[in-house]
Amino acid sequence: MNHPGATELKAMAWTGVGVGRPHESAELHVLGQATYTDDIPELRGTLHAALGTSSKPHANITAIDFAQVLASPGVVAVYTARDIPGTNDCGPIIHDDPIFADGKVEYVGQPIFVVVADSHDNARRAARRAQVTYEELPAILTPQAAHAAKSYVLPPMHLRRGDCQAAFERAPRKLKGTLYVGGQEQFYLEGQIAYAIPREADGMHVYCSTQHPSEMQHVIAHALKLHSHHVLVECRRMGGGFGGKESQSALWAAAAAIAAKKTNRPVKLRADRDDDMMVTGKRHCFWYEYEVGYGDDGRIVAAKVDMVSRAGYSADLSGPVATRAVCHFDNTYYLSDVDIRAACGKTNTQSNTAFRGFGGPQGAIAIEYIVDEIARELGRDAYDIRKLNFYGKDERNVTPYGQVIVDNVIHELCDQLEESSEYRARRQAIDAYNAGSPVIKKGLAFTPLKFGIAFNVTHLNQAGALVHVYVDGSILVNHGGTEMGQGINTKVAQVVAHELGRDLRHVRVTATDTSKVANTSATAASTGADLNGKAAQDAARQIRDRLAAYALRLYGGVPGVLAGGASGAASEADAAAVEEVLFYDDTVHVNGHAIPFAELVQKAYLARVQLWSDGYYATPHLHWDPKAMTGHPFSYYAYGAAVSEVAVDTLTGEWKLLRADALYDAGDSLNPAIDLGQVEGAFIQGMGWLTTEELWWNAGGKLMTHAPSTYKIPGVSDCPEDFRAALFKNRNVEDSIHRSKAVGEPPLLLPFSVFFAIRDAISAVAGHKVNPPLQAPATSEAILKAITAIEASR
Ligand code: MTE
Ligand code: HPA
Ligand code: MOS
Repeated sequence: MNHPGATELKAMAWTGVGVGRPHESAELHVLGQATYTDDIPELRGTLHAALGTSSKPHANITAIDFAQVLASPGVVAVYTARDIPGTNDCGPIIHDDPIFADGKVEYVGQPIFVVVADSHDNARRAARRAQVTYEELPAILTPQAAHAAKSYVLPPMHLRRGDCQAAFERAPRKLKGTLYVGGQEQFYLEGQIAYAIPREADGMHVYCSTQHPSEMQHVIAHALKLHSHHVLVECRRMGGGFGGKESQSALWAAAAAIAAKKTNRPVKLRADRDDDMMVTGKRHCFWYEYEVGYGDDGRIVAAKVDMVSRAGYSADLSGPVATRAVCHFDNTYYLSDVDIRAACGKTNTQSNTAFRGFGGPQGAIAIEYIVDEIARELGRDAYDIRKLNFYGKDERNVTPYGQVIVDNVIHELCDQLEESSEYRARRQAIDAYNAGSPVIKKGLAFTPLKFGIAFNVTHLNQAGALVHVYVDGSILVNHGGTEMGQGINTKVAQVVAHELGRDLRHVRVTATDTSKVANTSATAASTGADLNGKAAQDAARQIRDRLAAYALRLYGGVPGVLAGGASGAASEADAAAVEEVLFYDDTVHVNGHAIPFAELVQKAYLARVQLWSDGYYATPHLHWDPKAMTGHPFSYYAYGAAVSEVAVDTLTGEWKLLRADALYDAGDSLNPAIDLGQVEGAFIQGMGWLTTEELWWNAGGKLMTHAPSTYKIPGVSDCPEDFRAALFKNRNVEDSIHRSKAVGEPPLLLPFSVFFAIRDAISAVAGHKVNPPLQAPATSEAILKAITAIEASR
């Protein structure tokens, strides 16, 4: 296009992406009309299942008496490991995860059998009546104990660069310490659920609330001794997943499918909240021992950390979670000489799994804690120490794992936030306030984030899509991603609408379905819209090109061009001609003609032009050497920063978040409205992790905080009254979908600022001279403990 005319200018101004659009199901959500798995009308003859679970953390099962279970009202059958037709396994990577414990239990809550009854309540009541005889074995409950016993689910990892020991010895100043950061329950509002329906000729149709339909399909096929083509897994939406339904929906899907297969009737397995929390894994808690050397100015010259996570009884995704922790220990800081060790402690607790951030937050919080300590040692503002250690642009820009950072915007982003949050003035105001306030202390913290985008298992970075244009011009999109509230369907629909120049109301996205797009990856690692958006764009472009070629034949008036028919643009001239056909405003513009999209589609159908297409995408340039822990594991980085101000009552440990300012780099956002929602949601969820959400196992290995009565997630009243979330204007240097950046997980690191603001307020008690030994979660109890400790050391 040499001189854009009026048509071209209009086409350039028209866009389907980059604008705030409501979530595709927003209305259905508020009207209560959105169908979740439990809302699907039940077929006649549907049975209900419940799991029978272990009451011991580690034991051999010597006998089970099901007499009372079978005698319970409504009970149809009980199945154990012995009844599984195929493999008794639902582990995602390593096959150490039985569906039902076989002879041995490894945590309190581990499923041993499934009861099938005529109602949900009857199944649950009956499940408690089994008489299980155990022979108890010694149990390991904490990551520290696992580490001491060298009890791991995988071999430990080690990443080194430079000579950390020598750099440490040379360093003018040194710091050593330990830190414990607790785990977190996903607390999706919709619990785990699967509804399995036997179909003809060994078919099994399973509706499942899952982030990973393809893996559910594989696990079910193996458990039932069938092939993948026998099993169809479908998920229209989840009421939240947050990583908890990446691998751990498998147990529920498999148990329901086994029961359906054995009874040859539809079986629904819906977890009650307590069962869900007792059975499934959570975010890994981490224990750290660190040693850093730094200069008098606060620059880190050597950093050594030994981290151990509570993996639980099996590997699940603990390996990749630990890898991501290792690859996020640097956060936004250049660390020349590092020595990072990570181990996955095998404990007799739930098998921990993915949770928003996937180890990234656990890696990054350790270095943030260290920087916070350095600042207090030097009597400096922690924000200044942070800035001093930031990655550079052309130097000091290589991560410990060898990826060169080419998109660093942390300096500009923080400058902008420093100004908009009035950080410096508020710091002074808070000092003045604290000087006159002996009991209520205010605290302020500014924390940055950098997050690597891509699955850190390279082959998972692929996606597929299927786009249908119907003869009436309406468009149906199916892709491999799953909708968990994050808005992937809205974004993918926008991408397709944009390609075909259609108003969004003409594009509908259907349930994720293993019979439509095969071999999908989990919707995870924040890559859902990146990958599936690209795949859907690829599909839509193929249809657009065919329609354009056809339009040229009809209206082009260029003899010879596209003489080859509707099969596509063959020559370069053809390709250029096809590019000049413009799709916008529900109209196709060709050679001065403006044809309504639906009209062209109608004609194209009669002319036998294929109106649907598949699409595919694989993220380029990724590689990773797991042994050396080096490579280019991420496609790009997303950045962000936040400033939080809190007030802490130093007599009770109660606190309040007074104001939070968050700035997040979503690239050229596909949908700023949805992205802001993600930023705010992740902020509050991360704040809950670091403050009120405490997982507590008793000495017998039983998780005692297994319901909202004892496990405190943030409520509306915990949100700051003054909450200023914004998107940082940026454009992805990587060729991502419309140059946007992922948004799902990274903002979970923003509320580090809340934790460090609380620590700042506590340290005001001792004139900011002592480092408060504050662990996460910073519950009121933990806050009081830290205050007591620093008062004692004065
Ligand atoms: N947002 C909502 N509302 N519900 C969720 O379950 N999961 C988070 C994030 N945002 C989640 C969410 C997690 S863990 C991930 S990996 C991403 O969404 C996945 O979706 P995306 O890749 O499409 O952003
Ligand atoms: N995030 C989520 N799930 C994963 C990842 C990841 O980085 N790697 C493998 N599975
Ligand atoms: Mo998200 S933890 O990668 O499902």
